[in-house]
Amino acid sequence: MFLSFLTLSLATSTTLFARSSAALDLDVKDQQSIKSVAKTLAGGIVATYKNDLGESLIPGLFSDPYYWWEAGAVFGSLVDYSFLTGDNQYDDLVGEALEHQIGDFNAFLPVNQTKTLGNDDQSTWGLAAMSAAENGFTTSKIGNLSWIDLAKNVFDSQARRWDSKTCDGGLRWQIYEFNYGYSYKNSISSGQFFLLAARLAKFTGNETYSDWAEKAFEWTQDVGLIDDYHVYDGADADEGCSDVNRIQWPSNHAIFTEAAAYMYNVTKGSDKWKTVVAGFLNTSSVFQEDGGILFNVACENNGKCNTDQRAMKGLAARSYARAAIFAPFIAEELTSVLEASAKGAAEGCSGKEAKLQCSNKWTGNGEPSSGLGEVFGALAVVQGLLVKDAKAPATASDRGTGTSAGSPTANAPAASGSDQPPENEGAAGALTVSRGLSLAVAALVVVLL
Ligand SMILES: *[C@@H]1O[C@H](CO)[C@@H](O)[C@H](O)[C@H]1NC(C)=O
Ligand SMILES: *[C@@H]1O[C@H](CO)[C@@H](O)[C@H](O)[C@H]1NC(C)=O
Ligand SMILES: *[C@@H]1O[C@H](CO)[C@@H](O)[C@H](O)[C@H]1NC(C)=O
Ligand SMILES: *[C@@H]1O[C@H](CO)[C@@H](O)[C@H](O)[C@H]1NC(C)=O
Ligand SMILES: *[C@@H]1O[C@H](CO)[C@@H](O)[C@H](O)[C@H]1NC(C)=O
Repeated sequence: MFLSFLTLSLATSTTLFARSSAALDLDVKDQQSIKSVAKTLAGGIVATYKNDLGESLIPGLFSDPYYWWEAGAVFGSLVDYSFLTGDNQYDDLVGEALEHQIGDFNAFLPVNQTKTLGNDDQSTWGLAAMSAAENGFTTSKIGNLSWIDLAKNVFDSQARRWDSKTCDGGLRWQIYEFNYGYSYKNSISSGQFFLLAARLAKFTGNETYSDWAEKAFEWTQDVGLIDDYHVYDGADADEGCSDVNRIQWPSNHAIFTEAAAYMYNVTKGSDKWKTVVAGFLNTSSVFQEDGGILFNVACENNGKCNTDQRAMKGLAARSYARAAIFAPFIAEELTSVLEASAKGAAEGCSGKEAKLQCSNKWTGNGEPSSGLGEVFGALAVVQGLLVKDAKAPATASDRGTGTSAGSPTANAPAASGSDQPPENEGAAGALTVSRGLSLAVAALVVVLL
């Protein structure tokens, strides 16, 4: 249930608190200052998570109103936190959260999430596993799988769902036919698939992934979801994707920018991808205000960003930060945006641990909120400043042929019988009998809603 205009009207009201203590003071040119602010922000997220875990006893989830995808985004950023700051005190907790949500198909498809599990939600967790592989995150193993295997499994299951029957391709928003939004093809689903493919291409050097990355990007453009490097929300497959919903989100834009930057890098600076990256750089100004501070143009200034949308700038900031290292020719411009944004985001935060609050506005005139999306956003943009001086993300060849490089075909371990992710997406019947009950319950819940 991630990222769509469909939820735009359900704007939540921010819980407003008076500022309890001074704003976080960030010197964007000083590594120690950046690390110290990031530490406060990560500490706030982890304190909240521990409270939620104490109640649910289920690792990897945040309590309502946070959907499963947002937890995946947050744990992905904590994987980055450890790598970028060197503070590895949360590694076990983060590893446990990721591992618990892998689900029966070894591809981040936990049955408990069936009623809201879209392609974009699944790929959010797949991208967290990809970061874990690139960062060399702990040696923790899932059976005989590794982080890269999990990322490959997510890719494989989504490649199988690529749907050429309508709109000449693309991924549907939802995986299961009985879920609301199944007929919608949204940019974020194809965009995160594009990004996962591009990162796998970089990591493995396997051309299958770069071919898919190219195909995903070209489809999004051909169908009109990307036009002149503006990224629009999605279109209804039942109408042949003829009517494009033109809402623009910073996260969609940045995810395509990052993926294009990886492809620019994979192709050793090809003209084709250089043009694409430059095009996205050009339209990034849609999401900047006050001389280069990131903002969510569709909902921020009218105060209508809902819970999901409050996490979008965090997704955007981390993608822009990575785009800048893989396509260095855009680094200067993006760095100045990230620095101004990080400064403003930190100023909007106060308190610490479970009482930490941050503002959804990064221009210094917003009200702090205890929302997870706001704190995640601040963490992502602040620690994003460390990306350019960090070790470049690893590839399989950096690690020789050791197990951390994963299996040549990640699918192998999961290839037998019912462990295989559903081939025929949307068909509940393709799942095994033992899951029938939970699916029936999930279907019932959808009907009742
Ligand atoms: C699914 O729900 C059950 C029952 O609440 C819980 O024990 C289990 O840990 C959950 N699994 C995941 C992956 O969240
Ligand atoms: C940037 O946008 C301007 C104005 O829309 C356009 O003229 C120019 O060609 C664009 N540049 C790139 C690299 O796309
Ligand atoms: C590819 O990315 C690396 C950083 O990982 C960077 O050093 C290199 O310059 C990039 N290549 C190109 C062609 O820009
Ligand atoms: C490349 O990746 C694809 C998709 O996962 C896989 O089927 C293929 O075997 C891989 N090729 C090599 C040489 O590893
Ligand atoms: C992974 O473990 C399973 C069961 O323990 C085994 O059947 C399979 O061959 C193993 N796969 C690899 C790639 O080691």
